[in-house]
Parts: sequence; structure tokens; C-alpha cells
Amino acid sequence: RHFAPKARPLAGLRLMLTAGPTREALDPVRYISNHSSGKMGFALAAAAQALGAAVTLVSGPVSLATPAGVQRVNVESAQNMYDAVMAGIEEQQIFIACAAVADYAPKMVASHKIKKTRADNMVVELIKNPDIVASVAALPRKPFTVGFAAETRDVEKYALDKLERKNLDMIAANDVSGSDRGFNSDQNALSVFWPGGRQHLPLAGKTELAEQLLTLIANRYHETH
Ligand code: CTP
Ligand code: CA
Repeated sequence: RHFAPKARPLAGLRLMLTAGPTREALDPVRYISNHSSGKMGFALAAAAQALGAAVTLVSGPVSLATPAGVQRVNVESAQNMYDAVMAGIEEQQIFIACAAVADYAPKMVASHKIKKTRADNMVVELIKNPDIVASVAALPRKPFTVGFAAETRDVEKYALDKLERKNLDMIAANDVSGSDRGFNSDQNALSVFWPGGRQHLPLAGKTELAEQLLTLIANRYHETH
């Protein structure tokens, strides 16, 4: 899509996003992951580019085409995603964490395929991954930092808790308890919160919703900078 110059509120700004799931290896052929499709993050990357930003998209494994004009960095694990984000974050004015990052990864990654044994039980020990968005928000010269929160209950309570606990400038929360929205759907609805304000963006296609959220982000960015 094309926007008139006045409708390019992100012109001159560099914006980085994370999108998709991460994969946490158990052995050379197996991993722990989640159902994130990456659609929301990729829609946000395309919309940010259309609104004038120079966009870097750090993506976990997804089957989506890179939006035109967007610089894409492919990663697998949460640790890879953390490293890729930290390598480029200093040049960014805005950071949006849309990825469904695995909270834990297997403590040991077997170097060969794990064999089935006679035992009926198997225990896998997990260790916590770094929190990417919280690490970005803790930087001394932090960019305007936006998080997402996918919740199945108490959406507002958990979103406000994450906004404060992770020191975010904005959080976009969605209720993923219904199958018509969120994760694999083409549609979504978002409740957006920032310190001292909120706005609900009702159920819409992810392209339209992405434009609305980025307009809110641009407004808030310019209000605070
Ligand atoms: N996030 C991140 N790095 C992680 C975990 C989460 O950057 N290791 C980001 C997500 O991309 C999202 C925000 O943090 O923008 C909230 O993710 P969420 O999973 O809802 O929050 P958690 O703090 O992991 O809490 P929980 O899973 O217990 O709800
Ligand atoms: Ca999590």
C-alpha cells in the first residue's frame, strides 16, 4: 500500500521486530516449539515499512514470505533470537516483540538422536531462556519498546502486570481463548495499554490491525520523544 507523506509517521525511524515461534532443540532431529504462525509480526513488519520505517524483522521458523523492503534475519532458538536482537538494537528507535519465545529450553541438547529405552517414563530438564523484550527495555538507551501478551484469561490484569514488570512503553494484549483470533488465525483483536492510557482495537484482519497498532505506536513515540 502507498501512503501520502503525511501518512508516513515512521519516516526516518529504524524499527526492529521479533516474530514467529522459537525452536528449542532436544537432539539433532527434535525440538520444543509452539503454534505461532508469525502472521501478526509479518503484518506489522509490512505495515511499519509502508508507514516509512526502516524495518529489521528477526524471525523464528515460519512459512511466510518476507514483506517487500524489509530486512529479515532468520533464527531458530530463543538464545539465537536474543543474540540477533542484541547485535542490532543500538541503532533502533522502536522495538516490537511479537515472537512467541519459548520460555524454557532443554538443559542438555543431545549430540545424537535420543534412543527409546525400556523405561515408560522420560524426564527432560528445562532451563529458562533470556527474556528478550525485558532485556531490551533494561538497556541504558532503550528504544521505544512494545510487547505482546497472549492470554487465555484475565487479559487486562496480566497485560498491565507485564507492562510494568518488563518496563515496556506499550503492550498489546490478545485473548487467545477463542479459535477465531490470535495464533494461527488471519484475524485478531488487541487491547493496547501504555502508562496512563489504553485503547481497544476490535476484531479485524491482521493487516488492518497492524496499521492501527503502528499508528498508535507512532503517536505515542512522537508524544514521548
Ligand atoms: N518475550 C521475550 N522473551 C522471552 C519471553 C517473552 O521477548 N523469553 C516477549 C514476547 O515476545 C512478548 C512478551 O515478552 O512480547 C510477553 O510474552 P509472554 O509469553 O506473554 O510473557 P512471559 O513473561 O513469558 O509470561 P507467561 O508466558 O508466563 O505469560
Ligand atoms: Ca511466555
